[in-house]
Amino acid sequence: MTALDGSKPMLEQIAHRGLSNVNTVHADLFNWNPPTEWDAVFFAHWLAHVPEDRFDRFWGAVDGALAPGGHVIVIDVAPEEQRIEEHIHEHESIPLTRRRLRDGRQYDVVKKYWEPEELIERIRPLGFEGAGTKIGTEDGFGFVVWDVVRGSDDQS
Ligand SMILES: C[S@@+](CC[C@H](N)C(=O)[O-])C[C@H]1O[C@@H](n2cnc3c(N)ncnc32)[C@H](O)[C@@H]1O
Repeated sequence: MTALDGSKPMLEQIAHRGLSNVNTVHADLFNWNPPTEWDAVFFAHWLAHVPEDRFDRFWGAVDGALAPGGHVIVIDVAPEEQRIEEHIHEHESIPLTRRRLRDGRQYDVVKKYWEPEELIERIRPLGFEGAGTKIGTEDGFGFVVWDVVRGSDDQS
């Protein structure tokens, strides 16, 4: 397994958990070209932070990272979470939400909430096909999980 993140402390969590079968890659996903192909690509709580103007290139990298017949599994918070966000606004059509750190600093971060079918429709022209399912949204803290393949891949 290969785990990629732009934050070294985040990757160090893997060593702290004693996971020995994981290679780590410290890289900026917006400037990363996959060096090989994997049977599956998984990203958790990442896609919502991908701005529209980097979206297609990012999915191009996902495409390049995926072996024939491979699956892309995506998990992110469900749009219902917007009810409990502190502050949501748009700047030049970029959806932003406010995050406050314990030390008082605050940042507006890109946060695009995807409905299950909305994401499928967005990535279909990029060559992907699949489905998304909402889970546990009743209390406002739910998720959406997508299972996506290349549209042209033969799944039989
Ligand atoms: C909301 S966290 C999710 C972390 C982890 N995937 C999880 O599910 O717990 C978003 C992650 O994206 C990473 N990140 C932000 N910008 C990045 C970039 N340009 N390239 C790679 N990773 C990035 C952050 O370091 C952070 O670990």
